[in-house]
Amino acid sequence: MRSEEIIVIEDNDTMRLGIADSLKREGYKINTYENGVEALKKFQLSNAALAIIDLKMEPVDGIEVLCKLKEINPTTEVLMISAYGTVEDAVKAMKLGAADFLTKPFSPEELRIRVNKIWQKILNDRMIEDLIDQNKLLNEELLTGYEEIIGNSQAIKKVFALIGKVADKDSTVLIQGESGTGKELIARAIHRKSNRADYPFIRINCGVLNDNLLESELFGHEKGAFTGAIKLKKGRFELADKGTLLLDEIGDISPAMQVKLLRVLQEYEFERVGGEVTLKSDVRVIAASNKDLQKLIAEGKFREDLFYRLSVIPVSLPSLRERKEDVPLLVNYFLHKLAEKNRSEKKIINREGMKLLIEYHWPGNIRELQNLVERLFVISSGKDIDPLLIAAHLGGNVTLNNGYTNLPLEDAVSAFEKNMIIQAMKKSEGVKNRAAKLLGISTSVLYYKLEKYGLI
Ligand SMILES: Nc1ncnc2c1ncn2[C@@H]1O[C@H](COP(=O)(O)OP(=O)(O)OP(=O)(O)O)[C@@H](O)[C@H]1O
Ligand SMILES: [Mg+2]
Repeated sequence: MRSEEIIVIEDNDTMRLGIADSLKREGYKINTYENGVEALKKFQLSNAALAIIDLKMEPVDGIEVLCKLKEINPTTEVLMISAYGTVEDAVKAMKLGAADFLTKPFSPEELRIRVNKIWQKILNDRMIEDLIDQNKLLNEELLTGYEEIIGNSQAIKKVFALIGKVADKDSTVLIQGESGTGKELIARAIHRKSNRADYPFIRINCGVLNDNLLESELFGHEKGAFTGAIKLKKGRFELADKGTLLLDEIGDISPAMQVKLLRVLQEYEFERVGGEVTLKSDVRVIAASNKDLQKLIAEGKFREDLFYRLSVIPVSLPSLRERKEDVPLLVNYFLHKLAEKNRSEKKIINREGMKLLIEYHWPGNIRELQNLVERLFVISSGKDIDPLLIAAHLGGNVTLNNGYTNLPLEDAVSAFEKNMIIQAMKKSEGVKNRAAKLLGISTSVLYYKLEKYGLI
């Protein structure tokens, strides 16, 4: 059971009652203790989410209470308070795992702000713990019913339900979603689930071809239709007959091509470039785009009639940010696949590392996550992938929560040094003498340290 309780350990009566009173008003559940001995005895049995501890107390002082308490329950957060707050005291308390340090005298308002901030962190940590635990229970096959598509979030389950219903129909599907959210993967899944599965799945990237090329790719051309057309070429509409055609990056096609496509989608009839004969094709069309087509319509860049033709069944893929609960699942799936592919032991990302990955905002969505996991798999030498390495590769916008504070001083310094080196190597794109300069050390010292920390 998780504790909702805050304990206040403070020997000064006025202070203790004052703290308890202002936090109770804020709605917190409070228990107070006059000294550390009594508090620790009770703590053994009940725990607490947060402890507010005075630094100078008899017979055991606040630092000792802090250490004992962290020993019993490392997840309990601690706010130290002290009238004689020196920088050294604060540093020491934080190094031993305190979340914050408050110097007396402080106003009730200041206390509430600090406590609310720590409480937010407690709730956030609990949410992430839940995500990790919940995903551990699931095993890969049971997840989706779609091999290779991993996800157990509400957001992605809705997508599965929808494509399950429409796979067998011939209606056009428009898949929209940010880059890397799995649009192509979903298109292929729809094809596999449909009764066209035994016929071809053909994809064309409309975003990279000019009009002439796109037209001849889509509809084919007759021999001699233009310079270079040395033989007859079948187009993708023809090749996809009885199967599925994915028109990828549909938001990028020109107005002229939009008109041509519209006609095909109405009649499923077309001519090869330079050809006279009208051909018919039985194709299920799926279109995909990472651009907001409705916005393009508003800007006059995309035809509304084509949009409606394409989006008979609209599928909108959630970003990875909107389904963070799938991050641990995806990470484990990719680690599993990498081990299989490389015929090696599966590598492990621990809770701290997983937490960093869950908290990151993933602008490149699943593709970015997949690439990062692969990079980590390749560069990390041991079985365990170091959270520091993950932090370094996620860029400057993450911090390791209490990454060092629970370590003995020497280990904390090492971990810190290693992190600095990783950051510098990243900033200098791996150029060692530049990294050495950033760190203010010689290149040979850097080499020594890279070796020491297993970074080369
Ligand atoms: N749910 C998922 N489970 C496992 N892998 C996934 C999932 N979604 C996407 N991927 C993987 O992520 C990568 C990107 O997916 P995909 O190419 O389908 O994205 P996209 O939306 O088409 O991206 P873009 O807009 O950049 O073309 C692929 O390697 C794909 O296999
Ligand atoms: Mg794509």
